[in-house]
Amino acid sequence: MDLEIKSSPHLGYWIKNNLDYAMKIKNICCIGAGYVGGPTMAVIALKCPDIKVTVVDKDSFKIERWNGEYQNLPVYEPGLADIIKKTRGKNLFFSSEIDKSIDDAEMIFMAVNTPTKTEGKGAGMAADLRHVENCAKNIARVAKNDKIIVEKSTLPVRTAEKIKEILSNYKSDVNFEIISNPEFLAEGTAIKDLFKSDRVLIGGEKTDSGEKAVEALEKIYKRWIPNEKIIKMNVWSAELSKLASNAMLAQRISSINSLSAICEKTGADIDELSNAIGLDHRIGSKFLKASVGFGGSCFKKDILNLVYLCKYYGLNEVAEYWHQVIKINEYQKSRFANRIIDELGGNVKNKKIAILGWAFKKNTNDSRESASIKIADKLIESGGHINIYDPMVKESKIKEDLNNIWGSKSKSEKDLSSRFLRVEIFDNYKDAIKETHALAIITEWDEFKEINFQLVNQITNNNPKIFDGRLILEESNYRIGK
Ligand code: NAD
Ligand code: UDX
Repeated sequence: MDLEIKSSPHLGYWIKNNLDYAMKIKNICCIGAGYVGGPTMAVIALKCPDIKVTVVDKDSFKIERWNGEYQNLPVYEPGLADIIKKTRGKNLFFSSEIDKSIDDAEMIFMAVNTPTKTEGKGAGMAADLRHVENCAKNIARVAKNDKIIVEKSTLPVRTAEKIKEILSNYKSDVNFEIISNPEFLAEGTAIKDLFKSDRVLIGGEKTDSGEKAVEALEKIYKRWIPNEKIIKMNVWSAELSKLASNAMLAQRISSINSLSAICEKTGADIDELSNAIGLDHRIGSKFLKASVGFGGSCFKKDILNLVYLCKYYGLNEVAEYWHQVIKINEYQKSRFANRIIDELGGNVKNKKIAILGWAFKKNTNDSRESASIKIADKLIESGGHINIYDPMVKESKIKEDLNNIWGSKSKSEKDLSSRFLRVEIFDNYKDAIKETHALAIITEWDEFKEINFQLVNQITNNNPKIFDGRLILEESNYRIGK
């Protein structure tokens, strides 16, 4: 169903006025200075020196860090600091002045977080659109002239409609064109992905003003993305394509992880299996690396969102199919933790295990949904002690992650602190593995690749067992899928 453009006395002016939108983008505002907003806008600023790009956030501490030292930016991404050096203060700005930046901009990106709802209808599954709605209200409150609103956040299908409704309810004398432009960057390779995107999707309405808005955004991407990679489609296809792409990627990982369990029973080797499967050009070799389970802020929440959508439309079999991708992922994380416990004699009480890697993958400081959190929790629940090391995730973030799970679980303050008393955080892995009974590779950081029995024996007194959850070591006592 096509969206109807809101009828207003200004409609004629709006359409006419926006016929030259494509010429007029001089100021971009991006609401949300996170893992998507920061890198994406840095690249747009670099590629479009004539456009002033302002990234705003309600978290003033984050904005301070974006304006601070290059080695302490809130997002760690290879290559990002170099771009910030080139653009910050020239045409890229980070600011807490949200209203002013909205007012100044002709084009506003929404790159706010859309986590899974924790309460109300759809809790535990549906996307929480609170931040998107707040953005829309903020825009409606301050906008004095027409704006193009770009959905950069990953959103359920038909959210554009809801945004439009909010905007028109608040303000009827300003026209807003909503376009969907989902982001496909992966953390750790964000800059590479933004420079050379496989595709850029732009979903817009088939109205004059809708097409002009799409054209305006297309013109920005055309500065560095080849024409054939910019795909125009309807808004809802663009929104659903994002959820579907993440679901398909995660499904490959759960498929290979489910096979890793069979390998361990049969004597097959999952790396050999991945290689053999991936050589079929119809399947391809990417996203077939078995692991401790996928993490990251996107896969789980986007699949849950898809499952919710399926259920909403009564597609229960389809919902169950996609839900299984998450269930296998939870199983894989538990399987790895249980294997550590089993190999240590079925009991880790008063035993010390080093967790190497806290980030959900290498080359990022992001730990959202990282397998390390669940594995650490399970080991502590079983009475163990843990030493944690990650080259990029700060100690305060590790503690925050643990506090988030233990805060609600703990029976008392004493119980909570007794868990933390069994956690130590280190600034290098060699110290972290000293006097441990086991070490577990959870993130595939390059520096861990040098770990082998000889090196470990030189460093430690205990001859700890080595558990390789990322298949990066030459030798180990246990590795996933073997
Ligand atoms: P993030 O949590 O890193 O950043 C979101 C930022 O928005 C936060 O800093 C928050 O303070 C700010 N914010 C929220 N509401 C606000 C408001 N009303 N006004 C001003 N600031 C506000 O999230 P992210 O990882 O950048 O993800 C953003 C969106 O992009 C999500 O929908 C996500 O699904 C999607 N996405 C993420 C990735 C990724 O790799 N992280 C990739 C593609 C798409
Ligand atoms: C994902 C999508 O790839 C990206 O397109 C989307 O925009 C956001 O979500 P991201 O979560 O940042 O990106 O990283 P990704 O490389 O997809 O890895 C996700 C998780 O899967 C990580 O924990 C990674 O270690 C794991 N993974 C990935 C595997 O276990 N095996 C693989 O073969 C690939």
